[in-house]
Amino acid sequence: MRTIKVCLSLIPAVASIAIASNRELTPPIRAEVRDLHTKVIVPASGALFEAEREIPGTDHHWQDLQGIAKELAKASGQLLAINDGKSEPNWLKHATSLRDESESIAKAAGAKNHEAIVAGNGRLLSACNACHAEYRGGK
Ligand code: HEC
Repeated sequence: MRTIKVCLSLIPAVASIAIASNRELTPPIRAEVRDLHTKVIVPASGALFEAEREIPGTDHHWQDLQGIAKELAKASGQLLAINDGKSEPNWLKHATSLRDESESIAKAAGAKNHEAIVAGNGRLLSACNACHAEYRGGK
C-alpha cells in the first residue's frame, strides 16, 4: 500500500517535467526547422549512420561522406541562425552541438577513420535527441 501511495504522488511531478521540457516554437520557425530537416538534416544524418555498417570502399566514397558531413554542419549553422539565442539559449546549445559533431565527422571522413565516424555518430545522435527532448516534446 505504501509503495502505491508513493508512486501516485510522483505523477504530478513527472507530468510537470514533461510540460516544462516541451518548448513551443512559433509556426514560421517550426516550418523552417522542418524544411531544413527534410532537405538536409534527415537525409545527411541518415547517410552518416549508414556508413557505420558500410565502410566507404574508395577515396571517392570517403570524400562523398566528408561532403555530406559538411552539408550537415552547414545546415546546423542555419538552425543556429533561425534563433537569435536571446529567448532560447538551449536551442543554440543543441544546434551548436549538432554543428560541432558534424564537423568532427567531416574530419574523421577526411582521415578515413571509420572508428571516429562511429563515435562521432553516437555524439551526433545525442545532439538530435537532446534538442527533440526539449523542443519536440520528447519525440
Ligand atoms: C536544434 C534542435 C534540433 C536538432 C539539433 C535536431 N532536430 Fe530534428 N526536429 C527539431 C524540431 C523542433 C522538430 C519538429 C519540427 C516540426 O514541428 O515539424 C524536429 C523534427 C524532426 C523529425 C521529424 C520531421 C518531420 O518531417 O516531421 C525528424 C525525423 C528529425 N527531427 C530528425 C533529426 C535528426 C536525425 C537530427 C540529428 C542529426 C535532428 N533531428 C536534430 C529540432 C531539432
